[in-house]
Amino acid sequence: MAKFRKIGVLTSGGDAPGMNACIKAVVNKAHSMGIEVVGITGGYAGLIDGNLRHLTMQDVNTLVGSSGTVLYSSRCPEFKTEQGMATAVESCRKNHIDALVCIGGDGTFRGATDMTFRGFPSIGLPGTIDNDITASDYTIGLDTAINTTVQMIDCLRNTCESHARLNVVEVMGRDCGQIALYAAIATGAVAVAVPEVPFDEAGCMEKIRALREKGKRGMIVVVSEGMRNPDDTPYAETLAKRIEADTGVETKFARFAHVVRGGVPTARDRVTASEMGARAVELLVEGRSNLVMCELDGKVVPVDIAFALIADRMYKNKLKPGDLDAFTPEQLEQMKALCEKRRAEIRNLCDIAASVAY
Ligand code: ADP
Ligand code: F6P
Repeated sequence: MAKFRKIGVLTSGGDAPGMNACIKAVVNKAHSMGIEVVGITGGYAGLIDGNLRHLTMQDVNTLVGSSGTVLYSSRCPEFKTEQGMATAVESCRKNHIDALVCIGGDGTFRGATDMTFRGFPSIGLPGTIDNDITASDYTIGLDTAINTTVQMIDCLRNTCESHARLNVVEVMGRDCGQIALYAAIATGAVAVAVPEVPFDEAGCMEKIRALREKGKRGMIVVVSEGMRNPDDTPYAETLAKRIEADTGVETKFARFAHVVRGGVPTARDRVTASEMGARAVELLVEGRSNLVMCELDGKVVPVDIAFALIADRMYKNKLKPGDLDAFTPEQLEQMKALCEKRRAEIRNLCDIAASVAY
């Protein structure tokens, strides 16, 4: 068992509903094991600036259901430099931090690895609405983001029905179309466009024309922000203009953007965050590190960060020469299986969306 006296916790990258529940779980679990916790303000920037504060159980008492992150977040390019990292390491030493829990996405996990290799055992928690960590079936924040999106589309649907309009809705998710797909199914969108699967624009127009001819008034089309025009401008807005020009159906455009990130965390996100946060502390105390907590087939399990990051690159077809050298044939098979599972999930969601669309 590692002798930890103090764990640092930080949130980094884009915030996600459920991050606060993670913080609370880390603090409560650590205190129950006689370990102090310091909250690092503003992600890795807080480590560099020495912006830390002691967190008691009372401090985090009401956090389980709150959105955003009370520790604040940032994207901190300076941390990626040798100088920035050296300052962060010095800051951990000076403040007697023995280990770190880093909540965020893949960039945040790279930082956790860097800190582990510099003598500060670290574990990552997947806090991102995008659900884009290939090694995990689920990332904290996805469920809330979907539910927030659904609530907003329901509102649009009402006014579309009144005015016989179509609304194209762009939702976040970076290169991952899951928020768009789940929201499209849950709101009965007539079409959904995601970056993982070629979009049949002509088929979409035909469908809209046919539905209007049958008397359908309000219609919703969901587009993931990862859908881009050849010049990298957002495709969603372009599609809205083309739909109106092509079908004659009056079409509005709405970009939900960051609103989708700010909803009150659902029970699903609170529970997953709590379990992952508490488990991360236990694992650190057991002497484990350089891990990201993942959910696989309904269970929370630790996965090596290097494995998780390379599985991501494999899924995105972004492998670099030598990336796979450090892994056993069995691990490579596991990575391939994870990629295939994810592709199958996206295909399945597309099929459901197509079969229930009206
Ligand atoms: P996310 O964690 O959501 O993927 P980012 O990619 O913006 O978000 O990463 C969050 C932060 O993690 C960055 O601002 C930076 O401080 C740190 N980070 C990202 N990539 C690396 C890296 N290669 N090495 C060390 N730290 C990194
Ligand atoms: O990674 C979460 C996310 O909300 C993505 O869905 C989106 O593309 C990105 O962050 C937006 O980042 P920012 O908050 O820096 O605009």
